[in-house]
Amino acid sequence: MSGLLAGKKAFITGSSRGIGKATALAMAREGADVVIHYRRAVEEAEKTVAEVRALGREALLVKAELESQDEINAAFDVIEKEWGILDIFMANAAASAFKTIDQLKDYHIDRTYRVELHSTVFAVQRAVPLMKNGGRIITMSSMGSTYTLPRYATLGTAKAALESLTRYLAAELGPKGITANALNPGVVDTESAKFYGGQNYHQYNADVIAHTPLGRVGTVEEIADVAVFLASNLSRFITGQVIRVDGGLTLSTGGFESF
Ligand SMILES: NC(=O)c1ccc[n+]([C@@H]2O[C@H](COP(=O)([O-])OP(=O)(O)OC[C@H]3O[C@@H](n4cnc5c(N)ncnc54)[C@H](OP(=O)(O)O)[C@@H]3O)[C@@H](O)[C@H]2O)c1
Repeated sequence: MSGLLAGKKAFITGSSRGIGKATALAMAREGADVVIHYRRAVEEAEKTVAEVRALGREALLVKAELESQDEINAAFDVIEKEWGILDIFMANAAASAFKTIDQLKDYHIDRTYRVELHSTVFAVQRAVPLMKNGGRIITMSSMGSTYTLPRYATLGTAKAALESLTRYLAAELGPKGITANALNPGVVDTESAKFYGGQNYHQYNADVIAHTPLGRVGTVEEIADVAVFLASNLSRFITGQVIRVDGGLTLSTGGFESF
């Protein structure tokens, strides 16, 4: 691929590390200028900015706790002031408490939903007026939206709502030339996957690989490549869809024995 996103401006939440960082770099390689966003990992975010600039692309750095509408607005104030235009918005960041339903407190549900759902609505409200030439919205779901995973009810239900929101965005924003699609990765080798797996991570990984026809977990670059496709003109007639990128993990009904 080359130049698929030439001249485009992209904002990817949670791009200090993991899938978000890989996507920012993949989009920069395809010619996009990118906003690198973080909450706490300032050093990793600054490193990502440097990597984007080394690719010859422009990078803005914004910090925002996505639970806060004020901080989301402050980040968009920077984009509006610096660029005044945006072509691609990717709601990638997520954080959650992995607990069984009997352990959930009000704030666990509240914080997860704020980061997943509320922040996407508030960000889109600011992104759309900047998408003056049409645009692309990409949300980040997970297999927990459809399948039950251990200790995953909070994030899984939030992801299900996010997929639904994506369809509503597609319906409402289509007339403005804006598409909205969700990516649904299987298991990808990142910090959050390690956090979820905890002490059982290696056994969990082995289980996942055993259930995956392509025989491995995904890499961040493999998710980023599909995000580039969805952000590009190649995907122009796709909207309101959930795109699974999981090596076939969700094709079988096998359980995760390590849990
Ligand atoms: N990894 C997987 O196996 C997998 C599978 C399916 C779906 N996904 C989804 O893919 C997306 C990225 O996952 P990942 O594994 O790449 O995650 P990650 O490595 O844990 O990175 C999470 C990113 O989100 C940011 N973030 C977290 N909470 C935030 C908050 N409250 N406000 C603002 N930013 C916040 C983090 O910022 P800081 O660095 O500053 O903390 C970081 O940049 C998530 O939506 C996740 O649910 C992942």
